[in-house]
Formats: sequence, C-alpha cells, structure tokens
Amino acid sequence: MSQFNGFDTDLLIDCDPGVDDAIALLLAFGSPELNLRGITTVGGNVPLVHTQTNARKICELAQVFNVPVFAGCGRPILRSLTTAEYVHGATGLGQVNLLEPTIELSPQHGVDFLIETLLASVKPMRIATLGPLTNLAIALVKSPEIIEKIAQVVMMGGATTHGNVTPSAEFNIYCDPHAAQIVMNSGVPVVMMGLDVTHQAIATPGRLAKIRQIGDPIGTLVATLLEDYSHHDIQQYGFEGAPLHDPCVVAYLINPMLFETRKCFVEVEIQSEVTIGRTIVDWYGVSGRAPNVEVVCAVDSEGFYAMLCDRLTALNDRLHR
Ligand code: BDR
Ligand code: CA
Repeated sequence: MSQFNGFDTDLLIDCDPGVDDAIALLLAFGSPELNLRGITTVGGNVPLVHTQTNARKICELAQVFNVPVFAGCGRPILRSLTTAEYVHGATGLGQVNLLEPTIELSPQHGVDFLIETLLASVKPMRIATLGPLTNLAIALVKSPEIIEKIAQVVMMGGATTHGNVTPSAEFNIYCDPHAAQIVMNSGVPVVMMGLDVTHQAIATPGRLAKIRQIGDPIGTLVATLLEDYSHHDIQQYGFEGAPLHDPCVVAYLINPMLFETRKCFVEVEIQSEVTIGRTIVDWYGVSGRAPNVEVVCAVDSEGFYAMLCDRLTALNDRLHR
C-alpha cells in the first residue's frame, strides 16, 4: 500500500488524451488535494498535435487556468508511433468537438519542464503516467539526478495476463517498450496499474447514467465520451461498457485503499516482435529477483465509481458557482 496520502505531495500528470486520459484529468481537477502542478503530453493514442490540444481543451472546459500544459515527445524512443484512433476517434476525443482552447501551450519542452520542476521541488513529487513512458524515460536519461525527487510513479500500463493491442501487450507499454524498461529499471518507486485492474472498472449502463445525471457540462461530456468509447470494448471483450484505465491511476493517488497491490519483479519484453511490450510479472518470485514494482491487482469498482461521481460532481458544481 502506498505511503502517500495525496495531501502533502505535489503531482505531475503525463498523458496522451485520449478519452480516458481526459476523464482522468477531470477527476484530478475535481480533487484539489492532489496539488497538480503541470501536465505534459506525449504522442500515443493520437499524435502529439492532438494530445496537447486535447489536454488544453479539457483544462479550458473545466476552467483550470493555473496548471500549465506542455508538449513532450511526439514519438517513442526507437519504434515508430503506434496510435489508437480506432478506440479514441480521429483526434482523440471520440465524436465530441470541444472549442479550440484559448489556453496556450507552454513553450518549454515537456521533458525539460519535468526535469526543471522536479529539481526545483523541495519535496519529492508524484508522477502519474497515463500514456507511453517516453517523456519520463528521456527525462531520466537526460537528468538522472531527478530520481531522488520522484516520490512515486503511478503508471497506467502493462498487464499480468493478456494485452489489448496485441495478445501479449498493453498499449502504453507496447507503444514505447524501451521507455517503459528505462522507467522500471530506474530505481524510482513504480506502481503499475495494468489491464487486469482497469478491466474491473467498467462503466456499466447504470454507472454511465449516474455520470450523465451530474449534468452540464462535466457529466454530459464524460457520459458522451464514454458512450462512444465503449463501442470498441463491448465488441472486443464483451464488456458491459468501457474500462476506465487512466482514471484508475488518479483514483489510486487519491485513495490507494480502493486497490490491492503486490510487490513483484517486473520486466518488459523488448526483443521479440511477437511479444514486444509484454510486462512479465514474477508473481510468485520464481526468478528470485528483488521486486521493483508495486503491481495493482484489484480495485473496489463500486468505491471507484462513487469517488469518480463525487469528484466530477464537485467539479461541475464549482463551474456553476
Ligand atoms: C491505455 O492505452 C490508451 O489507449 C488508454 O488511454 C490507456 O492509457 C490502455 O491500454
Ligand atoms: Ca492514456
């Protein structure tokens, strides 16, 4: 279980919005105790030009003007960019057309912002990674001294069992497996929120209806995004709705008690084309290698959705004040 309670540590979010990233950002905006200091974006679900714009659109919709948004790396370290428009829509927010943001993109490169912010911070910070790990890996390579300024990385990525982009690999790790390997081997405390958990956090029709009831603009937006986004998972997995991958990370940061974890040795497959991007989780300690990752294995999904509805409601209410 995490030693952090979310009240005394600043947070950075690195993301590739993306429908579920957008909802994760809204959950963070509804949770001021997270002390969110900045958002960096990466090419992933859709190219960087869209992910950075979408992050600003979501800030604008939520009237969050004090959290700067940065563009980081547009492609993985070695591989070419794999995107997921078939899940997130052509520009990353499904069929929803939000207004062009007035919030400007911060001019600094996202990687440099991460490094500068971490080094300037008196206390170690937490980082939520919701997309491929390219930005954080490059930051670690460029300035390894940031390691001691990172209290914890909570990442959406990997799986102990099956993948979603290939039978073996989860999308974020598959996209940039070399970056994932750098982060996991860096010595920073990593919490891995994989598909095994996020597939337990399904937006069932009942939960979706509760989100829609929150009303305009937040409830309506989130429900509309999810309805569209769920088609893929319903068809592919026979789920009742979409899994909320990235919001699980933010929920963990707010209340880790909603989750069960186990410390394991994890490594990333980077050699085989067939299984590249697989996270090999040594669940039973067979390798004898020291655990390097806190692997999340279960979520209290009712508790998670109750929290999500509460926080989105709080955000929506704030916009009507
Ligand atoms: C992850 O990949 C992306 O499509 C989602 O935004 C999430 O971060 C799930 O595999
Ligand atoms: Ca994502």
